[in-house]
Amino acid sequence: GGLATYDPGFVNTASCRSAITYIDGEQGILEYRGYPIEQLAEQSSFLEVCYLLLNGELPTSDQLAQWTHDVTHHTFLHENIKSLMTGFRYDAHPMGMMMSSVSALSTFYPHASDISDPENRYLQITRMIAKMPTIGAFAYRHSQGKPYIYPDNELSYCANFLSMLFKMSERDYAADERLVKALEVLFILHADHEQNCSANAVRSVGSSQVDPYSAVAAGIGALYGPLHGGANEAVLKMLRRIGSTDNIPSFIEGVKAGNERLMGFGHRVYKNYDPRATIIKKATEDVFEVTGVNPLLEIAQELEKIALEDEYFVSRKLYPNVDFYSGLIYEALEFPPEMFTVLFAIGRTPGWLAQWQELVTDKEQKIARPKQIYTGERQREFVPIDQR
Ligand code: CMC
Repeated sequence: GGLATYDPGFVNTASCRSAITYIDGEQGILEYRGYPIEQLAEQSSFLEVCYLLLNGELPTSDQLAQWTHDVTHHTFLHENIKSLMTGFRYDAHPMGMMMSSVSALSTFYPHASDISDPENRYLQITRMIAKMPTIGAFAYRHSQGKPYIYPDNELSYCANFLSMLFKMSERDYAADERLVKALEVLFILHADHEQNCSANAVRSVGSSQVDPYSAVAAGIGALYGPLHGGANEAVLKMLRRIGSTDNIPSFIEGVKAGNERLMGFGHRVYKNYDPRATIIKKATEDVFEVTGVNPLLEIAQELEKIALEDEYFVSRKLYPNVDFYSGLIYEALEFPPEMFTVLFAIGRTPGWLAQWQELVTDKEQKIARPKQIYTGERQREFVPIDQR
């Protein structure tokens, strides 16, 4: 067929029309359905933001009560999903466990493949948002060799998640309200980010009209990578490796020489401070009031200061992104680094599902199938093996 536009990484290709999330990367603006992220982080709850992303409008109190009720009543996992998770090695990465468990859900709910029925879509969307924290918590408990804690439907979404993670017995755990609030804010900040790598994966796989569990499992796979959601885990490892502020200058020289990247810096869209990083930086202070300061904070702050004054980063418009500080909060909340991307995945689930829903209800959409520029050989004669 005719000439294709060569655009690796789709830096200049719009794959869809979307009314969900607006970003102005030059000015550092992020809005969900037109509402600024700063207002949502401050005034809203995660489930309310889920409703907004999925439905386009903020819920009335009745709508929010119904939605909260529906999500809360789907938090339990089928016992065989639990058995499936038990089968992983003790050191299995929780993102791998999460990806597999979400794809396995498609076999537990085969009716999910009927994607043309809006009520059925609502049911599957509700289930997925409800079950992600349970899967994340079970993956964590598995890695710790601890028994699973079932959901407590008396608790809020985030308090329930913390309880499934950290409760040791029936009576001993009540999460600090300030920590619950911090987690809520982090989930809100991660809830959607328009056509990022994982949303694009969900849309690309979803465009084959597969069920939403399979499409979201693909998104989880994309998020797992270190250049996407895996960056928050990589930032903590990097800070720990740097070890002290004295080592920052030589580390920066290595980055400038191209030996490695400064993880948590740079963004395809933001050529200015990532607005989510500003909010996280503030939340970090709130969390550290409860937990005490993480010594890595000093290294992160100094690293940021030096990078923001350095010609290499300035000329390339590399600023801290959402992942630069999020790992520090997650660590203060006592999550091990391999759980960080799982937290991102839980927060991003409503975004994936809103993108998926928009895709399957968009009459202009087609199966995703990019072109290529072929650079290989042509029309060669087959050579029998004994003549090669
Ligand atoms: N450290 C050092 N140099 C960098 C970095 C970095 N973190 N990011 C970009 N650059 C340089 C890059 O080497 C290139 O330089 P040159 O023009 O001399 O070749 C220039 O900046 C442009 O980079 P690019 O790779 O063309 O930019 P991109 O839009 O393809 O990549 C990115 C965006 C986020 C993958 C990249 O900035 C990166 O790898 N950052 C580190 C990983 C990270 O923090 N990822 C989290 C992103 S935010 C959360 C999420 O969406 O998951």
